[in-house]
Amino acid sequence: MVIFQTLMNSTKQIAEIFSTLYGTSPQWIVRAPGRINLIGEHIDYLGGSVMPAAIDRTLAMGVRANGTDLINIWSSEEQGEDAPLSFGLLGLKPFEGDRYWLNYIGGVIEMLRRDGLKPTGFDAVITTDLPSGAGLSSSAALETATALAVESVTGQQLDPIRRAMLCRQAEHEFAGVPCGIMDQIAVGLGQKDCALMLDCSDASFVPVQIPEGIAILVSDTRVNHALGDGEYQKRRESCDQALRIFAKSSWGEVSLDDLELQKSELGPLLHGRARHVVSEMARVSKMSNALASGDLAQVAEIMKAGHESLRDDFEVSCLELDLLVDAAYEFGTDRGLVGSRMTGGGFGGSTVSLVREESAESLKSHLEDRFRSRFNSEPNCFITQTSDGASAQAFKLLQ
Ligand code: GLA
Repeated sequence: MVIFQTLMNSTKQIAEIFSTLYGTSPQWIVRAPGRINLIGEHIDYLGGSVMPAAIDRTLAMGVRANGTDLINIWSSEEQGEDAPLSFGLLGLKPFEGDRYWLNYIGGVIEMLRRDGLKPTGFDAVITTDLPSGAGLSSSAALETATALAVESVTGQQLDPIRRAMLCRQAEHEFAGVPCGIMDQIAVGLGQKDCALMLDCSDASFVPVQIPEGIAILVSDTRVNHALGDGEYQKRRESCDQALRIFAKSSWGEVSLDDLELQKSELGPLLHGRARHVVSEMARVSKMSNALASGDLAQVAEIMKAGHESLRDDFEVSCLELDLLVDAAYEFGTDRGLVGSRMTGGGFGGSTVSLVREESAESLKSHLEDRFRSRFNSEPNCFITQTSDGASAQAFKLLQ
């Protein structure tokens, strides 16, 4: 087997790997971006509004129908020099152990089949420049790419919101993570230069322009973030328990007064979880006003308060994330920081910082220095741009 030394995630490289492995070229190239979330963390599964944006780091998949009932997959992340992995289309069940990551592919194929599509076998090569397990929705990118691959090879097309829902279902039933809809919508329907103001109670959204001259700096702690390990589910369960104590049918009806009234009934843990939810919902609407009016001082405060709430009330941060956020505010808004917070599910993963374009490189060096001297390890910091959502293109049109 050829050793693929440097993976550049380009169409040309996918075609080369594809030809080495399968002796032909792909018919389709599917690209699915990662996402950051500006505000609205751990409230998508509670029907809150959130503000994610797709970014220019993508997972790419070269695909060709193979006329069998087999899916053959080679992934730069998982296999290195090994041959493709194969599994049958029929009777799909969750994968375990080393094959766990195939849940994001097999699960989607199964959900599409249950929804009435007729998936057929295909060969695929996956490359990516989107770090996995970094809180940037690499799972949703793989799910969405798989759905687009099935749609491309079968010529059946799904409505993008339906596709997002089926991908989320795959994550619930196959990967065992009871996630909300934010990631799949952001990955599938993101818009360049914008975040989406996404109402997770009905999956409707409007684009929110990110003010000009602002760069996005992602800092991945490389602390492994695994949402399948139960903590994510526990947060969901605590929120459901708290809502029962409030005796309300949705979180939108819970006020700050209710929080005080039910404080002793809730106990400290549930009170903290509930306070995060109620305050985060308020921060999302403040953020949309702050961005619309260009009030960057407000953005700084909202993102800081959002991080503190996740750290202290929802308890999903970690030392590495806290250090990066503290270091960003220590760098300061007077030197160009706009705001910083952890992004995604937490328990490791990344922070997102908004920063004036001309200060992005110096903030990046500042965060790297601080991280290195505290943890003696290297974070993966990169400046990124917003992008459009996932799409599939015929390979021959890309030549
Ligand atoms: C993960 C989940 C999302 C969302 C975030 C936290 O990324 O997949 O649905 O709950 O965590 O906001």
